[in-house]
Amino acid sequence: MEKYRRATEIMKNLPITNPHCFVRQANIHCSYCTGAFKEENYDDMLLRIHRSRLFFPFHRAYLYFYERIVGKIMGDDSFAIPYWNWDVPEGMYMPDMFMNESLFHQKRETTHFPPRVTENDFHKSDKFLGPEKQIEANLALMYVQMVSGAKTPELFMGCPLKAGHDGWCMRSGTIEMSPHNSLHSWTGITSLREHEDMGAFYAAARDPLFYPHHSNIDRLWHVWRELNDVKEEWSDPEWFNSFFYFYDENQQLIRVRVSDMLDETKLGYRYVPSETFWLDYKPTPLVEPNLAKKELSKLNNGHNTPLFGSNIRRLDTTFTVKVPRSIKPVAEEEMKDGKKIHTEEILEVDGILAEENVAVKFDVFINMVNESMAIKSDVRVREYAGAFQTMGGGKKINAKKVGKIDDIRI
Ligand code: C2O
Repeated sequence: MEKYRRATEIMKNLPITNPHCFVRQANIHCSYCTGAFKEENYDDMLLRIHRSRLFFPFHRAYLYFYERIVGKIMGDDSFAIPYWNWDVPEGMYMPDMFMNESLFHQKRETTHFPPRVTENDFHKSDKFLGPEKQIEANLALMYVQMVSGAKTPELFMGCPLKAGHDGWCMRSGTIEMSPHNSLHSWTGITSLREHEDMGAFYAAARDPLFYPHHSNIDRLWHVWRELNDVKEEWSDPEWFNSFFYFYDENQQLIRVRVSDMLDETKLGYRYVPSETFWLDYKPTPLVEPNLAKKELSKLNNGHNTPLFGSNIRRLDTTFTVKVPRSIKPVAEEEMKDGKKIHTEEILEVDGILAEENVAVKFDVFINMVNESMAIKSDVRVREYAGAFQTMGGGKKINAKKVGKIDDIRI
């Protein structure tokens, strides 16, 4: 850590003409997510590396080069960026070693300084649950985002973005929404509109805590693969061949493809097996399922619950809608060509219109017998299906686009 602190100090003092200087490294993040680049061959499409399956490989590549640069500055090519393990109780604080000298950052929320427990699904209107309950909620959230809500690569990693208009999509994977977005917003100053610096894409990487935050995201990608026995999420050339540019440790501009980023052992690192307490934190039903079933069918027979309807609704209050089921209930094993295949029932909330530069969040509960119970509940109950959560964007480069359409699958 001492060497890392020293290397960060050196990088902060390098002239701006040097691509290794801290600000320029931070700006790499900014330029890839504020629409500074266009997609190759599509002049009217901006390249985005968040809210799709490019999220994990892009950030892995970013950290890979950052790590090599730090290693070179320290003269230690075995250097590895530490990870901020906010997924287990002992890591649910701003890490002490990032609270001093060059690893400290002014623009952080002081009320969230240690010993305050992290709020891994933080949103400005949410209340802190107190340390013990918050730890439980953080663990339950990990269960939902890594296990129950992340049964397919698309749910975990985000939508399969491809080049061009037809390939466009915007849907973050579970971990990207929270804890990723939420801890960005939690770390930055909450009285600033976009919770700078960590809370906004354009400024986030100016906080040295960005890098260990993202190494944990990278580690969780590895953990998810192990849990699901997956080596490559898609065998799709469009994904494999998507590329980005970075400066390497010799100040050379290098083009890397997603396919270069899919096996971390080839990149020269691996994660030591670590605690996954959250596997034991499967949320439990708030209302006993048989009882809930009776209550819900009473409500439905009385035709009290409306459908969503076709009009746009403003989400300024809690509401309940009936969702007709279109497939056989519940995840089950099916046989296909003599092989067992696992099917998942997915609830999709589509066509969400939200301002691009503002952090937005809402929770979705299913089988909740009444609304007031939902308002009082959180991720610790099984009725919690998931949340939609974005992070602040920052400076608008392309002013034409004011709104965006997003969706979630849970
Ligand atoms: Cu590129 Cu944590 O965001």
